[in-house]
Amino acid sequence: MRKPIMVGNWKMNTTSAEATALVTALKTELNEVTDVEIGVCPPFVYIQPVKQILQGSNIKTGAQNVYWESKGAFTGQVSPGMLKDIGCDYVLVGHSECRHVMGETDEVINKKIKVLLAAGLTPIFCVGEKLEQRQDNTTENVIRAQVEQGLNGVPKEKIKEIIVAYEPVWAIGTGKTATPEQAQEVHSFIRKLISLISNEETAQGMRIMYGGSVKPDNIKGLMAKDDIDGALVGGASLKADSFVKLVKYQ
Ligand code: PGA
Repeated sequence: MRKPIMVGNWKMNTTSAEATALVTALKTELNEVTDVEIGVCPPFVYIQPVKQILQGSNIKTGAQNVYWESKGAFTGQVSPGMLKDIGCDYVLVGHSECRHVMGETDEVINKKIKVLLAAGLTPIFCVGEKLEQRQDNTTENVIRAQVEQGLNGVPKEKIKEIIVAYEPVWAIGTGKTATPEQAQEVHSFIRKLISLISNEETAQGMRIMYGGSVKPDNIKGLMAKDDIDGALVGGASLKADSFVKLVKYQ
């Protein structure tokens, strides 16, 4: 059985006061939840104060990105060791905004996944096709290339430590969610790919989250699908009441 997982990706949002108010509310309201793994990914500068508030709670923390070197002259970057040092659990890698706005390549994403695994951090490895790729019926080719290149050279036994997030670019922040059937189709395809790259046991144990305009009113239909194990939530994770509803979708 794969444990459901809900992670909030705050992106470049919140002030320090908003960040602390948000997690204070989440800590109180999600205190009893044990059947869903919960995480929040604040902007780098708020990770530590957020972690401090979350002490003693079941809510994990993650970062939204990382650099692949361990230290040195890389102005503006943050290393895996630094994130480990402040107690992060997850790190998002290959988010569509990093791929398409900041220009991250599959090669860079692959390096990041490797260094995160080496540092003992859980990569949340994001993949997803653009609208024109879906319209051209090339979704599976795009996803295959992203998964294969992202995991290139990752030791087979390490692949099970990764969480995958399928986030169709056309659904992110647009209010257009993939239907549960569209998402399930790609999730099942990703699971098959993982079984080919590593093995069936790893594929069956791996959690594959869906992301892209997830809201309290569409989460149930998505989570009802066999291969959808959780959600990576942007907009709806910025308000305590909607994120709480998402975590308590059952
Ligand atoms: P959204 O973002 O929920 O606002 O669509 C999801 C994401 O980018 O992770």
